[in-house]
Amino acid sequence: MEDSSTQTESKTEWIDMRIMRGDKDTKLTSKSYQVPYVPGMVVLDAVRWVQEHKDADLAVRWNCKAAHCGSCAAEINGMPRLLCKTRMDNSGSNPVTVSPMKAFPLIKDLVTDVSWNYEVAKTIPPFEPAHDGPFVMYQHDIERVKEFHRCIECFLCQDTCHVLREHQEFGKYYGPRFMVLLASYEMHPMDKGDRLSLIHEEAGIGMCNVSKCCTEVCPQGIRITDNAIIPLKERVADRYYDPLKKWLHNRLHNPTRPHLAKKTHYDAKK
Ligand code: SF4
Ligand code: SF4
Ligand code: FES
Repeated sequence: MEDSSTQTESKTEWIDMRIMRGDKDTKLTSKSYQVPYVPGMVVLDAVRWVQEHKDADLAVRWNCKAAHCGSCAAEINGMPRLLCKTRMDNSGSNPVTVSPMKAFPLIKDLVTDVSWNYEVAKTIPPFEPAHDGPFVMYQHDIERVKEFHRCIECFLCQDTCHVLREHQEFGKYYGPRFMVLLASYEMHPMDKGDRLSLIHEEAGIGMCNVSKCCTEVCPQGIRITDNAIIPLKERVADRYYDPLKKWLHNRLHNPTRPHLAKKTHYDAKK
């Protein structure tokens, strides 16, 4: 006969969830579900349980379930998080509310259209090697850019940035993810590209008020503001607002003096 402690352990515990449902033509509405709790389960497990047992048409995007692909970005209790990296018992509220990223257009339920980000990526000149190699690099230079390469393109930082999320200034600011990408090139000692005018103008780094909200939500722990945005802002300020460097830059890039119009990166490779 089963003892009473075993009976207690096998008793199912149910968790209340609210999942936002809707598509681009209908208003998002909250739908309640009860999901059986399994110790260690993550929010994505609960959403998939709902798909399997309650609503097969619930849309959610995911691939790796290991916090590597960035696909399952959504909002849990209003906070931009990865569904596969957030445990149900650590989600911060009861019921657990799951909604799509607010900054991007809704496709269906928890799936948003993040294609704007891929269009932005196309405008950024890629790594431009200074020579054919082999590259000799110091370890501290490698460490500096390695942090940026941890990005999984989940776009949670884009979702949380008030410039995009609240003000929808998609035409004026590339957002924190692309400041990370730009920093990875600009701080690479073997890259000879010069993207400072892009960072200053089209990418709109001046729109960032260094609130650090993006850093707080990055699941990869990238110190977006301190290590990417602030150093890029310093480089832009050096070139465009330091009178001596501004004069020097204008001299070297003056189209009336083409023989002097060669690329320098005196301020891009600190
Ligand atoms: S620090 Fe800048 S990029 Fe990050 S969330 Fe704030 S405004 Fe956006
Ligand atoms: S920087 Fe962090 S939050 Fe932003 S896209 Fe990359 S991994 Fe996601
Ligand atoms: S499913 Fe890949 S990051 Fe969550």
